[in-house]
Amino acid sequence: MSELNKIALKILSSGKGILAADESTGTMTKRLESVNVSSSAKNRLLFRETLFTAKSMESCIGGVILYDETIKQNSNSKKTIPKLISLSGAIPGIKVDIGAKKLALSNGETVTEGLDGLRDRLKEYYDLGARFTKWRAVFKISTKNNLPSIESVKANAHALGRYSALVQEAKMVPIVEPEVLMEGDHDAQNCYQVTKMVLEETFYQLSNSNVKLDGIILKPNMILPGSNSNKKMTNEEVAKQTLKCLKENVPTEVPGIAFLSGGQTEVEATKNLNLINKHNDTRFIMTYSYGRALQKGALKFWSKDINNIIGTQNIFNHRANMCSLAAQGKWSEELEKK
Ligand code: 13P
Repeated sequence: MSELNKIALKILSSGKGILAADESTGTMTKRLESVNVSSSAKNRLLFRETLFTAKSMESCIGGVILYDETIKQNSNSKKTIPKLISLSGAIPGIKVDIGAKKLALSNGETVTEGLDGLRDRLKEYYDLGARFTKWRAVFKISTKNNLPSIESVKANAHALGRYSALVQEAKMVPIVEPEVLMEGDHDAQNCYQVTKMVLEETFYQLSNSNVKLDGIILKPNMILPGSNSNKKMTNEEVAKQTLKCLKENVPTEVPGIAFLSGGQTEVEATKNLNLINKHNDTRFIMTYSYGRALQKGALKFWSKDINNIIGTQNIFNHRANMCSLAAQGKWSEELEKK
């Protein structure tokens, strides 16, 4: 077993998943302002540290994705944030892309940037304690405009390949995140086709870049109808379509799949993951790498009194426990309501 494979399995095994706390300062500011909390470096740290010191970190969280600002901050107890996370048994990770930028001459599409100077930044992050990384490519569906374009799929997949190779060279596990956005009026069949195309190109590029597939984590979207479509899909159907798409398009060497929540409610993201695991007939571990679906309720509660650490942690613990049960196919409505 390779060292990278061991790290990936440690992050994903035993009903654990990933806490995606890597919102850029811009995104975090929007999240905090939406609940009327001012976005200072101190407040951003206070909320995150509240989560990182919660009890469920030990049982439910195998890895935490950090943002550049957070990985360099010190905790209240004067420990570095990566050290604090390691003490809970979770592995610290870091988002290394610098965001989705306009793809030149495209119809409103993006290409994720951050390859320039990445080798040096990776060394710095490794020295700070990171052992895995994340890069998010974004694909927008538009049936009207025939998106995503071939250019956007190729450019983003190529960047994922080069990123992953640099990360493995630096002895860290790359999370490969090709996100097909939920926003749009498309149906689930369309989401399926686009996700298939994106996965095919991504694994083609990873292979061209000599990336060892047993040392990556895939972070995909689930197969869902567009959030602006009036199409409904049962949770069972979401789980079945998602499994089918991944089974047919992800090489079996990949050790695990950690889904993004992508704007689903906390309970929907949990329910869908639970059914995916109930029906999982693949050899992939299927778990969570949720941002909003792990943090939303906790953030809302915290915003009412930012010094109520215990109350906020209680909300987060419940959410993390529900996600962990879902990662084992053991979640239920009754447990959710407890
Ligand atoms: P969401 O779960 O909120 O979609 O965030 C996951 C993530 O890391 C997006 O890059």
